Amino acid sequence: MPQILEFIRDDHDLIRGLFDELESNPETRDVRCITLRRELPGHIYAEEATFYARLRDVVPEEIRQSLREHTDIRETLARFEMIPLRDDTWMPALVGLRELVETHFTLEEREVFSRAEHHLSPAELFGLGEMFEQEKQKAAQFAAI
Ligand SMILES: [Fe+2]
Ligand SMILES: [Fe+2]
Repeated sequence: MPQILEFIRDDHDLIRGLFDELESNPETRDVRCITLRRELPGHIYAEEATFYARLRDVVPEEIRQSLREHTDIRETLARFEMIPLRDDTWMPALVGLRELVETHFTLEEREVFSRAEHHLSPAELFGLGEMFEQEKQKAAQFAAI
């Protein structure tokens, strides 16, 4: 699998794992919430700055739909972050956020990945992978301030 798609799928798997742990292990919830708040926006930002930026003119409809889903995820995450861990609405909100995120990841892995492989060269996909990792590091520095 081309580098950028591997990096994106690795992020997806890491975030799926975080949701698993958040749902099943109350002990580590506070720490995992911090990780989710860093990883999810960082992933979305890096995708938009590299992968989506390159594909926007190639497959505009898919990218428009994906950007709408990113906005939805950002807004839902912002609402989720306001809920205290011990609140009764915390778990339903987590489940709702997870559904949104997983639906989006599935769309990317099924639709957007195959479009990218069809339209972009292996060298370009490799270069995008390098840029993706750099943008994620930038996002992490920004989040740490
Ligand atoms: Fe995405
Ligand atoms: Fe993604």
